Amino acid sequence: MKHLVNQVFTPGGMPRFTYVDRSGRDLEQSLGESKKHLCKMVTLTGSTKSGKTVLTNRIFPRLEADNVWVDGGSVGSENDFWSQILNELNEATESEVTTTQESAQNVEGKFGGKAGIPLLMEGKGEVGTSIGRKQSDSKKTKRSLSPRAAAISALRTHEIPLIIDDFHYLDRQFQGDLVRALKPLIFEGIPVIAIAIPHRRYDAIKVEREMTGRLLSIEVPPWSIDELTEIADRGFPLLQINVSGHIKQRLAQESYGSPHLMQEFCRALCRINRIEESMPHEVKISSLNEDIFHEVADGTGKIIYDRLAKGPRQRQLFPDGTVWPSESIKFGRQDVAGAKNLPLTAVQPENRQLLIKFTIF
Ligand SMILES: Nc1ncnc2c1ncn2[C@@H]1O[C@H](COP(=O)(O)OP(=O)(O)OP(=O)(O)O)[C@@H](O)[C@H]1O
Ligand SMILES: [Mg+2]
Repeated sequence: MKHLVNQVFTPGGMPRFTYVDRSGRDLEQSLGESKKHLCKMVTLTGSTKSGKTVLTNRIFPRLEADNVWVDGGSVGSENDFWSQILNELNEATESEVTTTQESAQNVEGKFGGKAGIPLLMEGKGEVGTSIGRKQSDSKKTKRSLSPRAAAISALRTHEIPLIIDDFHYLDRQFQGDLVRALKPLIFEGIPVIAIAIPHRRYDAIKVEREMTGRLLSIEVPPWSIDELTEIADRGFPLLQINVSGHIKQRLAQESYGSPHLMQEFCRALCRINRIEESMPHEVKISSLNEDIFHEVADGTGKIIYDRLAKGPRQRQLFPDGTVWPSESIKFGRQDVAGAKNLPLTAVQPENRQLLIKFTIF
C-alpha cells in the first residue's frame, strides 16, 4: 500500500500510522479509567508537544459525537465556554414548555439535542397551543437558562465526557469557577478531563483545593530515546525506507523528549532525500546532514514562539549569560546530556542553541 510521507509523519496532527502507546507507562489505561464512573476530575499535564492532545484524542476521540471538546485557547469569555458546549450538544438556552390544567407536560425544546432530549427550564411568557387537547386546556411557556446552567444541564442529560484542552489558556479566575461548577457532574460520574501545561497560567493549586480527594492527576513525561525511535521504526518501513540505527538514534536525541520534534525530523529526512511517498523499492539512508536540525528548528521554533507570545514566559539565566526557558532545562539535562540532574553546563554549547530555538515548556 502506498503512503504519503505527510500521512505517515504528522507533526501537529493525529498520527494514524506512527502512533506509539508508550507501553509500560500505562497512560492510556490511566486515562481510560475516567470512563468507568470514576467520579474524579482528571488533569492531564505535561510539557508542550509531549503528546497530551494525541493521547486524549485516542481515548476520547474528538470526532465522535459522544465526547465534547472545548479548546481553552478559543474561549474568549465565560459565556463563550458554555455556549461552545451547547453548540456541540446542539442544545440551546431556551425551550418551549406546554402545561395543561391537569398536568404539566414538556412538549419540545427549541433545538433537539444529540439524544433528542429537550431541556426543561424556568417559565417566561405564554402562548396558547394544543396537542390533542382543547386550546383552553393548555398554555405554552418559554423557559430560559443562563448558558452555564443550560450547558451543565445538557451535559448531565447527555452524560457526555467533557474534555477541556489547553485548560491553562482559560482565565485563572475562571479556572477555579469552572471546576466548582463542574463538581456536581463529576460527583455523578461524568468524565471531565482538563489538559494543561504546568506553567504559571495553570492554577493547579486552585484546582486541587476545589477537588480535594476527587482528582486524578496524570502526568505525561518527556519521551525516552527508545519511545521516540519507535516513531521512526513504525513510519519508515511503510515508506520502504531503511534508515540506519545510528541516524534514528540521533534524530531521537535531538528531539528533547518531544514526539512532535521526532515526527518533524523524520519528515524532514524524507524531504531532504526527496521522498514524498512510499518508494517502489527499498531505499537505504545511512548518512545524515546535521543541517536538518537547524532547518527544522527555524520552522518549528517560529510556531512555538507564536504560542509563547500569548502567555507569560518563565525564563532563567544560564551561567554563561544565555537566557533559558525553564522547562527546556529539564529536557536539556535529561536528554541532551543523557542523564538526570547534571549541571546545566553539561549541555553541549551547540545543543544549547537548539534548545533556545525550540523553547519547549
Ligand atoms: N503517541 C504518539 N505517537 C506518535 N506521535 C505522537 C504521539 N503523541 C504525539 N505525537 C506527535 O506529537 C505531536 C504533538 O502532540 P500533541 O499535540 O498531542 O502535543 P501536546 O502535548 O498536546 O502539545 P501542546 O502542549 O502544544 O498542546 C503530534 O501532532 C504527533 O505528531
Ligand atoms: Mg495539545
